Parts: sequence; structure tokens; C-alpha cells
Amino acid sequence: MLIIHTVAELREALAPHRAPAFVPTMGNLHQGHISLVQKAKPLGDITVASIFVNRLQFLPHEDFDQYPRTLEADADQLQAAGCDVLFAPSEADLYPEPQAFKVQCDPHLGDVLEGQFRPGFFTGVCTVVMKLFMCVQPRVAVFGKKDYQQLMVIRRMVRQFAMPVEIVAGETARAADGLALSSRNGYLSAPERDEAVQLSLALQRMAERVRAGVRVADAERDAMDFLRARGWVPDYLTMRSRADLQAPQPGDARVVLGAARLGRTRLIDNIEVD
Ligand code: PAF
Repeated sequence: MLIIHTVAELREALAPHRAPAFVPTMGNLHQGHISLVQKAKPLGDITVASIFVNRLQFLPHEDFDQYPRTLEADADQLQAAGCDVLFAPSEADLYPEPQAFKVQCDPHLGDVLEGQFRPGFFTGVCTVVMKLFMCVQPRVAVFGKKDYQQLMVIRRMVRQFAMPVEIVAGETARAADGLALSSRNGYLSAPERDEAVQLSLALQRMAERVRAGVRVADAERDAMDFLRARGWVPDYLTMRSRADLQAPQPGDARVVLGAARLGRTRLIDNIEVD
């Protein structure tokens, strides 16, 4: 596997390839990321992963400085998964001057849920993904459903800018107890790790109760109260339309999404209902 740090070297390495398959990440890789690489592999003529902790998508009080940087271990995992190129630029490589041009996300999709609690997050994500796409020029890019809203935002950005890249979704990888794999799980203490699965259990229960005829508002409130009683600080647990993440209309395919803090760790998860 080639490990490349600069945009110029990346362009040179990818020049002979017409159809790169791309997996952007922020590193500290786990089986969820590796499953995205495995999904990408048959979809292109070369498989490229990137590792870049993108300052633009963190709020000032968030964990940008703490975010685990584990490049060597990540490179080993990518190599074992059959990735061909790892693009790991420094900030100076990717943002050689202040990134004053930014991609502003559609507010209907980007200002709800994660966007409401992390203002500016999707501007940061869209800006770096647009830039990484310009560097890699992928034919296909794979994003995990774990970051459900991010996947939808990227799909809409690609559609609205007529970008020549197909966005493919990868399923959420889960631990044996059902906890969605996330780099941020590493922040959890041992008792918090045992507790963490309750977020996905609360979402599952919410989905089941709505299917059984409970009013959406009641199921949402009960799920939030359930987590609060166990010491969590929920931002939202809600059921939305899979088409636009707005309140579901009759007949819409639905998804339940949640974000909640356990101690100092903020976790997100989601489950497609139908
Ligand atoms: O999902 C992530 O890891 C990041 O948001 C992404 C897509 C790599 C952009 O920094």
C-alpha cells in the first residue's frame, strides 16, 4: 500500500486510474471503517482511503485536540484489508491557506439533528469532502450509515453539484452487544462501555413501540426519559422520514436517530424502521 501525504503525489499516483473507489475517514480505524474499505474494493480500479482529522467540522469546545491519531496502526489495518493507497495529508497539505471558500449545506437537511446541536458541522464536513473529492476524483465513494445524516448530506451535495461520483452506503458495524462501532467509543470508561448499548436499545424500543401504535411524540419522550433516568444527557431521540429527515408523513419510510452524552462522550446511532 502506498502512503501519500501531499496532493501533488496523490494526483501523480492516481493519474493512470479512471475509477478510484474512495473511503474518507478521520482515522482511529475500527471494523466499521474496514468494512467500508472492503465494500469499496470491488467498485473501482484502485482503492483509496484518506485519514484526515478535519478541524473545520469541530466546534471550539469539541474533541479536535483529543481525537485519537493512530496512523501506524490504521495503515496496518488498511494494508491488511487490501487498500491500495492511503492519503494522509497534514493540515498544511490540505489547507495550505485558510479555507475561506466553504460549502454551505442545504439548511433543510443540515440545520436539523446533528446540525442543530453542532452548528457548522456539516459546512465543515461538506467542505472537506468536496476538497477530498477534488484531490482523489473518485468514481465511487463509500460512507457509513452510522453517520446517517452525513450520508444524506453528502448524497444531496453530490446531486446538487452534479459531481461525477456515486455515493454508496455501508451498513453500521456493531459490537456483539449491539453498540455501534465508533472511534469515540474509545473515550468510554469500562462501566460506560457496558452502559453505552442502551442508546441503540432505546432506539430499537422506540421503533417497536411506534410500530405497535404508540404515538411518535410519546415514544420519543419516553426514550429520552429512559436514558435520562440512567444518567445520560440526550440531545435527541426522534423518528424521521428517510427521504429528508423531517417529521414522517404517512407512507414515508422511517428512521429513528439518537444522540446522547454519556459522561464526557457524545454517541450517535440510528436504526432504519422500514
Ligand atoms: O465520517 C467521518 O469520519 C468524517 O466526517 C469525514 C467524512 C471523513 C469528513 O471529515
